[in-house]
Amino acid sequence: MRVIVCENYEELSAQAAKIMASQIILKPNSILGLATGSTPVGMYNRLAEMNQNGDLDFSKVITFNLDEYYPIEKTNCQSYRYFMNENLFSKINIDINNTHVPNGEAADPMVECARYERAIADCGGIDLQLLGIGQNGHIGFNEPGETLSSVTHITDLTENTIKANSRFFDKIEDVPKKALTMGIGSILKAKKILLLVSGQNKHDALMDLFTPEIKTNNPATLLKVHPDVILICDRAAYGDGPAK
Ligand code: PGA
Repeated sequence: MRVIVCENYEELSAQAAKIMASQIILKPNSILGLATGSTPVGMYNRLAEMNQNGDLDFSKVITFNLDEYYPIEKTNCQSYRYFMNENLFSKINIDINNTHVPNGEAADPMVECARYERAIADCGGIDLQLLGIGQNGHIGFNEPGETLSSVTHITDLTENTIKANSRFFDKIEDVPKKALTMGIGSILKAKKILLLVSGQNKHDALMDLFTPEIKTNNPATLLKVHPDVILICDRAAYGDGPAK
């Protein structure tokens, strides 16, 4: 795992945007795995700026998002489809038909999960997967537990995640209790992974990445088995780094 510690969130966003942009420049028809949440917003803004300045072309890019609440309508402003349209897709020259988010409106979530996993494979797999991390170590909505799922699946959100995500909702009762998410195996199949970690509240989850252990109660530790992970974190998340 290559580790880049940035002084602050702005620097983290700029570094992440450079890596994403390089991927797209080197392979204009890249398959990108994308993430929602607060962390990637600064990077998305920079990518949109590069696109608007004529420095980056998304016309051949294909994207697959990690996850979506279930059930949720695409037009609901809390849906991840809405988030992606607002924060990135509407600001760049991507073909919206090339953007994929698990369908929170699907009648049968299991069928939708199988379709999503197949759609990624049919495109040839993800070239670069962007990830954030939850305070509890989740990646996508792969929540800590005794077991983890390898493929795209429907999952219950933990109390910790519901509480963390309630900041985007009027009240905590409004946060959906389930989600569709790529599995750990779907994520690890990506050729490259870019993990962004910002803020002091992620410190404990982040420090587990600097030990040799893999723990299902911190799903992000599974990233240790992947041969090509770039971790960008800010000083607030890194603190003094791993205990000596
Ligand atoms: P955040 O979420 O970027 O909003 O902190 C990350 C996550 O929960 O994966």
